[in-house]
Amino acid sequence: MSKLYVIGTGPGDLQWLTPAAKQAIENSSDLVAYGLYLELLGELTEGKQCHEQALGEEIQRAKNALDIAASGNTTSLISSGDIGIFAMATLVFELLDKQPCAEWHNVDIEVLPGISAMQAAASRVGAPLGHDFCAISLSDLLTPWETIEKRITCAAEGDFVISFYNPVSKKRDWQLGKAKDIILTSRPATTPVILGRNLTRETEAITITTLGELDPTHVDMLTLVMIGNSESRVVNTPSKQWVYTPRGYSKKLS
Ligand SMILES: C[S@@+](CC[C@H](N)C(=O)[O-])C[C@H]1O[C@@H](n2cnc3c(N)ncnc32)[C@H](O)[C@@H]1O
Repeated sequence: MSKLYVIGTGPGDLQWLTPAAKQAIENSSDLVAYGLYLELLGELTEGKQCHEQALGEEIQRAKNALDIAASGNTTSLISSGDIGIFAMATLVFELLDKQPCAEWHNVDIEVLPGISAMQAAASRVGAPLGHDFCAISLSDLLTPWETIEKRITCAAEGDFVISFYNPVSKKRDWQLGKAKDIILTSRPATTPVILGRNLTRETEAITITTLGELDPTHVDMLTLVMIGNSESRVVNTPSKQWVYTPRGYSKKLS
């Protein structure tokens, strides 16, 4: 049976690529991905047939990966972070569900997870995801804004730590400001906010700010925005500022 690996390669640095994902790439003759993700893989792409596709060509990319695997070549479809989180894995299964093609059913599919941007951002500042959290994409290209706004409102009222993916892009610049206003109606302006840009890549930048001070013009599409819940706290140690969200141990600590 032919094989398709559906792989998340982590936020960028190859040290964060799981051994299982690395092994799957090594086993593959063909790699299908957006060009930047192949670039981040460096030497791992050597000797492989690389099928680069531009952003916005996601359907074609998923079809291509299924077709190449169905033709008998062991293939890896690759996304950064976790391929199951706002990425390509879901499209593979949507195609199998909605546009099934007989040859694809002979493909053995294996999904391999990666470290997502929100986990990378959290690790850089401590433990902000220590209690209930959610992830929301602010891209309204495929999801109506009304749906996104409702989810932000519910997440804010539910006091979840919220990770915003796709916070802004060249064509979308107002959604993060609107999200900030919604959350401010149920959370204090002093709520810690983490901006993680280009996490684990050469130009990584981490900023700790507050909800009141959050300036959407300082955020771009390479940034993960994390809003603490009403109990998230900043801790200053001599060498570093940290953020954590308590799990309720405080009574046991006193
Ligand atoms: C289409 S989503 C892909 C998410 C990815 N599958 C993951 O699990 O991290 C793209 C968004 O993820 C976030 N992102 C992905 N990689 C990142 C990184 N290395 N540093 C900061 N943000 C990142 C940004 O918010 C970006 O706009």
